[in-house]
Formats: sequence, structure tokens, C-alpha cells
Amino acid sequence: MHVFNHIQDLRAYLAAHAGKSVGFVPTMGALHEGHLTLIRTARAANDLCVCSIFVNPIQFNNTDDLARYPRVLEDDVRLLETVGCDAVFAPSVEEMYPTPPALTMQFGPLERVLEGAFRPGHFSGVGVVVSKLLHIVSPDRVYFGQKDLQQCLVVRRLIEDLSFPVEQVIVPTVREADGLAMSSRNRNLTPEERAAAPFLYAELTRAAESLKAGTPVDDVKASLEAAFAARPEFRLEYFDIADTTGLVSLESYQPGQEAALTLAAHLGKVRLIDNVLLH
Ligand code: PAJ
Repeated sequence: MHVFNHIQDLRAYLAAHAGKSVGFVPTMGALHEGHLTLIRTARAANDLCVCSIFVNPIQFNNTDDLARYPRVLEDDVRLLETVGCDAVFAPSVEEMYPTPPALTMQFGPLERVLEGAFRPGHFSGVGVVVSKLLHIVSPDRVYFGQKDLQQCLVVRRLIEDLSFPVEQVIVPTVREADGLAMSSRNRNLTPEERAAAPFLYAELTRAAESLKAGTPVDDVKASLEAAFAARPEFRLEYFDIADTTGLVSLESYQPGQEAALTLAAHLGKVRLIDNVLLH
């Protein structure tokens, strides 16, 4: 497996493999089974699999979160070898942003809800870095996890609006045995917090079942909010039941309709997000 720190070197490697299909998995490292599932999926459908590891400062709206973000490049490289990744791109901040980028991006109503509303500037930073990475790698397919549903939808708009010649593949959320969605930030949970964390998915699942059984949207929301209020170790930031394209809140739900149930909650110093989709 090749590890590249410079844009030019990665481009030279890709040019030497012109004609081969390329699957690309952008990440911020601290890799877990969720990321590795994306890599395996990319590996299986393309001649070459490229993974990037870059903790992108311009998508963090909280400096503590950026400082605490785990950075374990050597472990990551070892893991990527085990799943047959062909090339890793691990640039420095200076390589990606020799000067702070002037470009910002807006994604309209999609970025004013949920993560966008609570993390101002986050999706602009994601849009800029994903655009740069797509320009550098020019993949045939790019892989994203459903865990970050709003990010998937923002990137879908980015690809459409800027005509990137790439197919976006969305991979279902990979979970721990107790239901907790895998996340690099789980490493920052204390053992007690880790034991409590499956509550997010348990509540999302309960809400989804209740909705499917015909409970009105407002009652489902009130019930989940009450359950979180009874668990003071959590601070629920948002919970919503929304459509699956624009993440616009649904006022009512008909059985069989598509919907996304999404939430964010703080547990100690860690902010966790999760979602389930109803088809
Ligand atoms: P990161 O959080 O490292 O995630 C990289 C990719 O892995 C994303 O597409 C994310 O949705 C996916 N992923 C994370 N946890 C997952 C899980 N439990 N199951 C399935 N997929 C999972 O998302 C980012 O990095 C950044 O915003 C990035 C796109 C790299 C831009 O900087």
C-alpha cells in the first residue's frame, strides 16, 4: 500500500494507473469498522481503492472538538493494509491549505437544518474539502456512510451542482453489537459513558416503531424528548422526523412513507449523532 503526503505524488501515482476504475473513501482517520466497511465496498467494485485521512480544520466549528479529535495515522495505515486499500492520501494542513481558503459554500435550506443549524460553517468546510479531494483523486465512485446522512445529501448536491463526474455510493451505518453507531468520537467516551451511549439508537428504534404503528409525529417526538429528559447524563440537541431528500420536518407520517429520524446528543464532552431511515 502506498502512503502519499503530497498532492503531486498522489496525482503521479493515479496518472500511472490511468484507465483503471478508482473508488475513493474520504475520512478523517481514527478508523473503525464503519470506515473499513466503506473501504471493502470500494475495493470490491473498483480496480483501485484510495482512502484519504485528513482532519479538516475548516469543518470544525468548535476548537476543542478539533483539538480532541483522535489522530492515530500509524494505526490507521496498518488497518488499511488489512483491507486491501491501494493508496492512502494523508496530507498536512499546509499541503491542503497553503493559505486559508477564501472559498465558502452554501447549500440552501439543506444546511439550515439539523447539523447545519447547530454547526455553523460545518457544511461549507465539508463542501470545500470534498471538492478539493474529488479534484485531486478524480474517482469513478466516492463512498459515504449513512451515519452522516445530512453530509450524504449535501455531497449529493455538490456533485450535481458542480457536475463532478463521479457516482456517490451510500453505505448503511455500521454499529457495535449493542447498537451504538461506530464513530471516531466514541474513543473519547469514558467507560460509563460508553455503557450509556447505546441509549441513542435504542430511542431512535423505539421512535421508529412507534411511528410505524401510527403514533402521531408530535407524540413520538414528545416521548423521545421525555425519555432523554429522564437521563440527565445526556443533553439532547435535536431530534427530528424529516423527509429523506431535504430533511424538512414532517408534520405527519403515513405508514409506508419514507422518513429520516435523526438526532444529536451530548454525552459528557462528546457529541454523538445517529439516524434511522424508514422506507
Ligand atoms: P469521518 O467522520 O472520518 O467519516 C468518513 C466516512 O465514514 C463518512 O462518509 C462517514 O459517514 C463514514 N462513517 C463514519 N461512521 C460510520 C459508520 N458507523 N458506519 C458507516 N459509515 C460510517 O465524514 C467525514 O469523516 C468528513 O466529514 C469527510 C467526509 C472526510 C470530509 O472531511
